[in-house]
Amino acid sequence: MEAIVVDGGLPLTGTVRVGGAKNSALKLMAAALLAPGVTTLRNVPDISDVAVMAEVLERLGAHVVRTDHTLTIDATELTSHEAPYDLVVRMRASTCVLGALVGRLGRAHVAMPGGCNIGSRKVDIHIAGLEQLGVAISTEHGYIDAEGPAHGAHVMLEFPSVGATENLLMASVLADGETVIDNAAREPEIADLASLLSEMGADIVGAGTPTITVNGVTALTAVDHSVVGDRIEAGTYLIAGALDSGPVTVVGFDPAHLDIVLLKLEHAGCIVERQVDGATISRAGRIRPVDIQTLPFPGFPTDLQAPFMALLALADGGSVITENVFENRFIFADEIARMGADIRIDGHYALVRGVPALSGAPVRSPDLRGGAALVLAGLVAEGRTVVTDIHHIDRGYEGFVDKLSALGASVRRVDVSDPEAA
Ligand code: EPZ
Repeated sequence: MEAIVVDGGLPLTGTVRVGGAKNSALKLMAAALLAPGVTTLRNVPDISDVAVMAEVLERLGAHVVRTDHTLTIDATELTSHEAPYDLVVRMRASTCVLGALVGRLGRAHVAMPGGCNIGSRKVDIHIAGLEQLGVAISTEHGYIDAEGPAHGAHVMLEFPSVGATENLLMASVLADGETVIDNAAREPEIADLASLLSEMGADIVGAGTPTITVNGVTALTAVDHSVVGDRIEAGTYLIAGALDSGPVTVVGFDPAHLDIVLLKLEHAGCIVERQVDGATISRAGRIRPVDIQTLPFPGFPTDLQAPFMALLALADGGSVITENVFENRFIFADEIARMGADIRIDGHYALVRGVPALSGAPVRSPDLRGGAALVLAGLVAEGRTVVTDIHHIDRGYEGFVDKLSALGASVRRVDVSDPEAA
């Protein structure tokens, strides 16, 4: 078993390049199922979630080949319509093949994702939307069984669910007639998926707005597409720069995808310079307290709540964080409390009382973003922090240790089965 060992206190400065967005790449891989032929995806991050999604596609009969950061996906012949439990339980995002299988094959048999440590991860909004598209759904024995074909319809989402919007997009592009998705999610990853589908020949208007209109077409063709830069990975490194003092430049993403985060970093006392494909962050004085509330895009992204909490743990005063998207996304607070953070949780609210310094400690990564945030905290803590359960981090951050080391951090992976190594 591996851990990340961080020795805090070294200055962070330099430039880091982020990869393609995990939360787009996984869906683009699913969308490749809609087009017979070989789809090429570039700027695909080398992370374990992508490897799991490749296994899902192979189980369905597609052939996936990775060459560096490029994937080729041959979906000419699909031999199955089932996403099995053993894979879905490893990665809940694999439920995004549901819409693509309905679109391509007219049916799907996908394991229910089950909960995870940040919340229940329900799929009722996905199911309600598919049923409005005329897809017969039954949920038995832990599986979603979908029988199409889908036909166009006006679908209203009760919540702008990212996954539900994506599944309905993929189920509707080959459906007869017009589909309107109302109260759709507006995340940049949705726009990236719609771009790929349009390049394949789909007729989509309004992606990135709350109302997406799709006119079904008869067939899609495989294309070559580059994944949008990862705004969450970018935000993670910008917060690392804010924690220390920088200047840190992060390239490979569109700063317009982090508007509210950059604004909150400025309110926290940072100087942020935007560039065309990135941003530079630095800080002179103390970190100032800032209230944040997570919301669907363009609101503050829930995926940066934990990293931002690490920053506010060292602010010159108290901050209130409201988590509106997931019902259980404050586990990170218990871990960073071991490093001296003073955080009080009350339901959806976290009161973060800033402390002058954090102290290094052994901590466990509770989930993907919480794990990254613990490493960030270790960068500025006094002494050594050892973060275990780092498989969570490897799900979404390619080369996390290497990228932080390149900025000057003392951070390394060790095999903790050998206690001497740490
Ligand atoms: C995507 O998850 C991302 N994952 C998440 O990133 C991200 O936090 C989330 O969107 C919100 O931005 C991927 O793209 C793989 P939702 P998703 O459907 O699609 C509830 C990370 O760290 N809900 O918008 O699952 C749900 O329980 C991950 O990279 C229902 O109740 O998010 C949650 O509370 C974590 N019923 C809220 O909506 C449904 O049918 C938001 O879920 C669907 C969702």
